[in-house]
Amino acid sequence: MTDNVIQPADIREVAVIGLGLMGSGIAELVARSRRRVVAIEIDPIFLDQGMGRLRASLDKAVTRGKLTDTAREEILARIRPSDNIAAGVADADLVIEAIPERMELKRTLFAELDKACRPNSILATNTSSLSITEIAGGTQYPGRVVGLHFFNPAPVMKLVEVISTVLTSPETSETLGLLAHDLRKTPVQVTDRAGFIVNALLIPYLNHAVRLLETAQATREDIDKAATVGLGLPMGPLTLLDLIGLDTSLAVLEVLQAEFGGTRYTPAPLLRKLCDARLFGRKSGRGFYDYRHGTPAAAAEDHHLASAPVPAEVALIRDPDGRLDELASEITAAGMNVVPQPSAKTGLVIVAADPKHRILDAALAAGHPADVVGIRFIDAGDGKPTLTELVLPDVTAAGTATKARALAAKLGLNAVISRDRPGFLTATLAYAQFNDAVRMFQDGYASPSDIDTAMMLGCGYPRGPLQMLDDADPAHVVTVLEAMHTATGDPAFTPVPLLAEYATAGTRFRS
Ligand code: CAA
Repeated sequence: MTDNVIQPADIREVAVIGLGLMGSGIAELVARSRRRVVAIEIDPIFLDQGMGRLRASLDKAVTRGKLTDTAREEILARIRPSDNIAAGVADADLVIEAIPERMELKRTLFAELDKACRPNSILATNTSSLSITEIAGGTQYPGRVVGLHFFNPAPVMKLVEVISTVLTSPETSETLGLLAHDLRKTPVQVTDRAGFIVNALLIPYLNHAVRLLETAQATREDIDKAATVGLGLPMGPLTLLDLIGLDTSLAVLEVLQAEFGGTRYTPAPLLRKLCDARLFGRKSGRGFYDYRHGTPAAAAEDHHLASAPVPAEVALIRDPDGRLDELASEITAAGMNVVPQPSAKTGLVIVAADPKHRILDAALAAGHPADVVGIRFIDAGDGKPTLTELVLPDVTAAGTATKARALAAKLGLNAVISRDRPGFLTATLAYAQFNDAVRMFQDGYASPSDIDTAMMLGCGYPRGPLQMLDDADPAHVVTVLEAMHTATGDPAFTPVPLLAEYATAGTRFRS
């Protein structure tokens, strides 16, 4: 441990500036750690709203039996709301800024904090993406300026990114690492680079999901289901965008785009349009989903489809790997006739789908392209198929999707429908992010284990992206990415050199 490091026990009063979604969550978790909190908002209306959000969160914890009434009152008693920055920060050992993501606002605020705070207090910013070096540049003592990045919902997500600039003193980052543990969080120490670890991997993936929606690759619900059921993630990307805020995500993308360039960070037009329409997600009542009448209900479609008519005869084109053998028995058991080749009586033609190829060629070879559906079974990590991807070439007849969904519902399969593009839905979302994760390691920014820990603790991933990549096999991932690149012409899908190298050598990232 470095000498002169302020210990977490010496951080007794914390000023949180900005009581939006993140600020109120941060104020709550700091007050829960028995520290005094000054909750600052210069606009009294926002101050009231922020305190209201904080109280509602504590009330919810009491209702769920996680907190006693007395504990809630003690936590609230430790929080002093204030609309005066200079007075509010005067006694703070640590200031955490969580105001809107605009550089000029942050620089002005930090210049003010520099004068108003005690010389030994630490000044942290919760910025999601802005340059902390630039924020620190407006201060006289940049050694005490540091990034402290929490994840939404701040009281729940276990990760904190501690971000040092070239000017941050080692003591400052060490103190905040220790403090993070004291707040029952896990810190990762990183340097100042756009998006840090988590946002640089998460936000382009969310943007990719928006592009899939706007190019009609799949429905909103199916894109989300591919991530939750197919990849085992706690939330689908469009639901998560609504939670984080579409405006916040767009701001992060713009910073990533300015720093790294390239199509991966170009905001999807639909994301920008929804922001223009002020449909920011949960906080504004609407985003990809509508929250104005409570939490949106899950689509009830599969339930209705279970009783929809299914074709009497299904042609199943077997492949040498035997991937459809079990399905043939299940279809027969459900009372349908299974034949090896389609005839005039056949209602549906099933071929095995492989994300490395479009299925159109198999559909044409089968002779009845209008009735063809590709099927791919996906397991989220435990070896048992959890999701069925139904893949439809654009030449498929309009009614084939309904027949395929009805069949999946009758067989009790949890299914999504994807257009016929290499990678389909689940692999296209996941593998592009794996590629980004390898690029981050290749650039020397973070180790594979820090990358995986950050995504697991910051976003609730059951396994980190590099572990998932190892499990999927780097050689397979490279082939699918190359097919995605060829089909779309998008250079963002070109496998990064290190991934191609590991795939050739048979090397793994995590083991
Ligand atoms: N405030 C406080 N506590 C909350 C909460 C909130 N807003 N939301 C949920 N919780 C608590 C619940 O009370 C519950 O606590 P207990 O286990 O003690 O009962 C726990 O969290 C789980 O909640 P639920 O059972 O209601 O919900 P869930 O199991 O569906 O989990 C979730 C909800 C934790 C949000 C989960 O869906 C998840 O991990 N989602 C991913 C979130 C994510 O990726 N966040 C990072 C976004 S990126 C970011 O924030 C950075 C940036 O700069 C943009």
